[in-house]
Amino acid sequence: MEHANSRFVTSNQPGLHDKLESIVQTHLTTPFLKPIAAHTQTAFDEVKARVDNFKGPIVLDSCCGVGESTANLAKLHPEALVIGIDKSKHRLAKHAVEYQQTEHGQYLLVQADLNDFWRLVLDDKWQISHHYLLYPNPWPKAKHVKRRWHGAAVFPYLVKLGGILEVRSNWSTYVDEFAVALSLAGHPTQSEAYQSDVAITPFERKYWASGQSSSRLVCKL
Ligand SMILES: C[S@@+](CC[C@H](N)C(=O)[O-])C[C@H]1O[C@@H](n2cnc3c(N)ncnc32)[C@H](O)[C@@H]1O
Repeated sequence: MEHANSRFVTSNQPGLHDKLESIVQTHLTTPFLKPIAAHTQTAFDEVKARVDNFKGPIVLDSCCGVGESTANLAKLHPEALVIGIDKSKHRLAKHAVEYQQTEHGQYLLVQADLNDFWRLVLDDKWQISHHYLLYPNPWPKAKHVKRRWHGAAVFPYLVKLGGILEVRSNWSTYVDEFAVALSLAGHPTQSEAYQSDVAITPFERKYWASGQSSSRLVCKL
């Protein structure tokens, strides 16, 4: 089977990162002022035109990869406009023709850096009903904790986007840490084991096919 040998995440962290709380607290009290990259601004402006003309709820599928989850989420939220965002042109280009717009909901894919895109969405006051963050890169080495979304400077902006946030990972520590970070941001939440008969992303499918399990959190922001 093509994807059945995915490696388990290994980390030099025995549990939650020991600096997690101080990192998150710093970000919660410090504005993230890095300038917005021109390519993400352009991508945002194009999507904004669609969003401004759309009368229903907006769903974000952040780190959508090839966009399989985006198409699946559009079926789950047929009344919404689902927006899949990923920085990888290569991954987005693999989005199969079979996923293209069907009668099952509507969605679009955007190539953008979420460090910038989320800040633009917040500034433009989009009404987000659901926000999915499925299998983000775990960055399991302790020294890379600030590359995890909950350890990143943009984390407070992600929280302020609102909606029902769902995070899934095959590394339970990632979700446990994310839950702690959300609690520090005023949104107490718990991680839980997650399984389903149907995988909705390629990474989810390959992890499950290799005998790995998923953790998730669902938090109303
Ligand atoms: C492990 S893959 C998971 C993809 C998909 N969610 C899935 O489950 O199949 C993580 C994705 O996050 C994207 N990514 C990482 N950092 C990003 C950033 N700053 N902005 C946008 N996408 C990013 C990568 O390009 C990659 O496609």
